Amino acid sequence: MTEIAAQPSSEPLIRLERVSKSYRRGGETIQVLDRVDLAIPRGDFLALMAPSGSGKSTLLNLLGGLDRPDEGSILFDGVALESLGPRALTRWRAIHVGFVFQLYHLLPVLSAARNVELPLLLQRLGRAERARRVAAALSLVGFPDDRHTFRPTELSGGQQQRVAIARAIVTNPTVLLCDEPTGDLDRRAGDEILDLLVELNRRLDKTIVMVTHDPHAAERARTLVRLEKGLVGEIRATSS
Ligand SMILES: Nc1ncnc2c1ncn2[C@@H]1O[C@H](COP(=O)(O)OP(=O)(O)OP(=O)(O)O)[C@@H](O)[C@H]1O
Ligand SMILES: [Mg+2]
Repeated sequence: MTEIAAQPSSEPLIRLERVSKSYRRGGETIQVLDRVDLAIPRGDFLALMAPSGSGKSTLLNLLGGLDRPDEGSILFDGVALESLGPRALTRWRAIHVGFVFQLYHLLPVLSAARNVELPLLLQRLGRAERARRVAAALSLVGFPDDRHTFRPTELSGGQQQRVAIARAIVTNPTVLLCDEPTGDLDRRAGDEILDLLVELNRRLDKTIVMVTHDPHAAERARTLVRLEKGLVGEIRATSS
């Protein structure tokens, strides 16, 4: 295993350098990201707004090591993700990244608590310790105690998103990557989820990157990156 030296705290947590990504489909190449530079400070809550189809989900997938750039470098807490092989990247992701999606992506056959427990099954933890962490995560996100055994279809959208956030934070990851986390919720449930993300950022110092279409959601972040066209060239934070 590689020893990873600690970086000075002034270094951004995540730094993208000239990251390009295209998809190949039939004979065609679809260029989605073109030499993107982006620095995300530790402890930031960054909202990224850009039009549909401009590459936001693609960018999040690269940040979280779910996919790899064609070119360029992604430095995460001093680790160059491109230097990790497939197994090391999977292990790295399990430790450092929590994903939250618009449509929750919970497993329908498992209870709320079992869904949250899933990422812990990759760690060597006893059953009692797992149960303790699951309960702590569900309590932290304000999920009702009397719903732990309910399956996703037996929960409201807001409750399902709380379960998904509990699942994302139960391993205590470095960063939360949220792809339209309020996109499927009404205003009130969405606001509650945003309150929760703000609290996770402020109180637990979680670094959060949130993709959103909704200006109201973006306002809740510390830093707003707004792109009118595609994710081309340098991305600058326009307000904070
Ligand atoms: N696997 C793929 N193969 C081919 N093209 C793809 C693939 N995934 C995404 N694309 C294309 O890349 C572009 C960016 O997609 P992406 O999902 O990153 O956009 P987005 O900004 O997240 O959009 P939305 O706001 O609608 O979720 C789109 O034009 C899409 O068609
Ligand atoms: Mg998307």
